[in-house]
Parts: sequence; C-alpha cells; structure tokens
Amino acid sequence: MIMDGLDALKKKYLDGIMAASEEGALETLRLAAIGKKGEVAMKMRELGKMTPKERKSAGPALNALKGEIISALAARKASLGDAALEARLWLDVTMAGRPSRQGSIHPVSQVTEEVAAIFADLGFSVAEGPQIESDWFNFDALNIPPEHPTRTEMDTFYMHRDADDTRVPNVLRTHTSPVQIRYMQEHGAPCRIIAPGRVYRADYDQTHTPMFHQIEGLALGRDISMANLKWVLEEFFSAFFEIDGIKTRFRASHFPFTEPSAEVDIQCSWSDGQLKIGEGDDWMEVLGSGMVHPKVLAAGGIDADKYQGFAFGMGIDRIAMLKYGIPDLRAFFDSDLRWLRHYGFRALDMPSLHAGLSG
Ligand code: PHE
Repeated sequence: MIMDGLDALKKKYLDGIMAASEEGALETLRLAAIGKKGEVAMKMRELGKMTPKERKSAGPALNALKGEIISALAARKASLGDAALEARLWLDVTMAGRPSRQGSIHPVSQVTEEVAAIFADLGFSVAEGPQIESDWFNFDALNIPPEHPTRTEMDTFYMHRDADDTRVPNVLRTHTSPVQIRYMQEHGAPCRIIAPGRVYRADYDQTHTPMFHQIEGLALGRDISMANLKWVLEEFFSAFFEIDGIKTRFRASHFPFTEPSAEVDIQCSWSDGQLKIGEGDDWMEVLGSGMVHPKVLAAGGIDADKYQGFAFGMGIDRIAMLKYGIPDLRAFFDSDLRWLRHYGFRALDMPSLHAGLSG
C-alpha cells in the first residue's frame, strides 16, 4: 500500500528538480518532498503502522528515495551555481575598459640605464657577476686577506653552511669589485667595462640600506693612467648631471685593490640647505677609485708587466639621489606607490645621449 505511488513520487520530484531554474524553486521542492511535512516524510511516518514484514521492504525504499532526492537537489544546485558564474564571466566586448594604472621605471633602473648609455659612448661595455660570491672573489682576489679589517668593516652577510661543513661560507657580495676579477679571468686585457648591480652590507640608516647598488668601472691597457681616469670621470659626470665642465677633486685614499687609490669628489654648492651639483666650491664625495693593484691583476690572470689600468666603484642610488633630489635612501626600497609615481620615470623612454638622458 505504502509502496504504491513511490515511483510516481520519485518521478515527480526528480523531474521537478531537473526543471528548477533557480535556488528558490529547489528549496520549495526540498520542503515539499523531504521537509518535516513533506510527502516523503509523511510516508516515513506511516512505517510505524506497518507489519514488520512490510516495514522491511518499505523502509529501505523510502530511505533510498530520500537519498536520491537529496543528491538530485545538490547536483542541480551546483549546476545552477556554475551557470550563474558563467553568465557573470561572459565577455562583454562593448563594456568600457577600466582605466589602467600606468607603471613607471624605478630611479635606480633609470640611472643604471643612463650610466650605461654614457659609458657605452666612451667605449665601455656592460659586464655582470653573481650576487652570491665566494670569499675568494669578494676578498682574497682583491688583495683583502682573511685578517684584513675591511672584511669586518664591510659588515658582510655570510651564507649558511652546515655545522660540519668546514669550508669558508659564501658571501653576499659587499661590492661590485669581484666582477673585475671574473671579467679579467674570462676576457683578459685590454678591456673597458662597467659592472652595475646589487651589493649587500649590514647597515641601515638614512643613507644606508642592507642592499644597495654600485657600478664598477675597469679599464686595462698598456699605458692607461690616472689621467685617463680623471678625464673619463669628468666626461661622465658632465654628461650625467647634464652640466658642462663639472670639476672633480681627487683625494688620496686607501683601498687594498688599488695603488695608488683616490676618493673622488664632485663640485657642488650648498646654500639655504639646497644642494647644487656642478657649481660653487664645496665638494661631495661620490666614488672610490685607483690604479688596479698588481696582485689584483695577477688574480685575474693578467700580466702586470704588460698591462695596467684604473678601476672605480660608485653608488648608483647615491648619484640618483643627487641628480633627482631624493632625500632618503630607504624610500628607494619601500615599494610605496606614491613615491614611485612621484620619482618614477615613464616607461619606453630609453635614456640616450642624443635624445636626452632623463626624458
Ligand atoms: N669597492 C670599493 C667599495 O665598495 C670601491 C672601489 C672600486 C674603489 C674600485 C676603488 C676601485 O667601496
């Protein structure tokens, strides 16, 4: 008796569920079928009045029907959801485009390109080296022996070594000078290169960040002298700051990898807290330089009796700050969009000497 009409019930609800076109209709069907007072639920209540024999076949049949209805409801609900999503994702080619945010070139990238353009004009090509260096390339080959104070002065970051590994750990390069050695070993002399890139020292304040950028210069030949260095640097600074005839001042200094060594200042003026490059009679330190030490040439596989030359190392971030009036170095690496929009450069304007360096 109770089994009568079960097939009809099943058909009625499964067809209804398949035909439902929105979630509300599914809910109505759910209540009508298996809700507290639903048709299936009512039939289940009648189980109590049956003989055990009848119940044995009717119970499982009703449970099976309930299960089928529940899965049909779930399946239909999922497919309605997919359809709704698909409808929303439909591409409307007539829709107005969203205004896109214009990206910009970071001052460090811009200045690196500017420096490379100027040195390319002077016959220098660009070389590169790894940021994780062996202590040999970063120190020993540059005439900085293990006990040399420079190793601690530079606040070197050491890479991890396992406790049982007795090798000297690699370092994050503290300067771009190891690229000198790598280039000499691979290409020999004569040569003229610059090597821009990231360098690392554990230091942090308004003018120091643990990662910053340097540009190394190296020129080797039979008779290259400090006079060539001075001319090249003056040409460079005049082109870079776009001011003719910038004067430089060489101060005797010391670097283990150059002999003699000089720190180089450029002419500037300070008035009312305003810094101007290329005028006045104050001086601003911008780089370290010198004649490549014979031991460094030897480490690079160069015959020091045949070749000599100059090298210099300059902070890219620092000259970017000077040229574009950027007060705090730390802001370079904060990724603050407002800062980037203010100090950034238009993409696609490549610096060149004829078209203008800074766009
Ligand atoms: N490597 C030096 C530094 O990081 C700069 C330098 C490079 C000095 C080449 C002389 C020659 O301070």
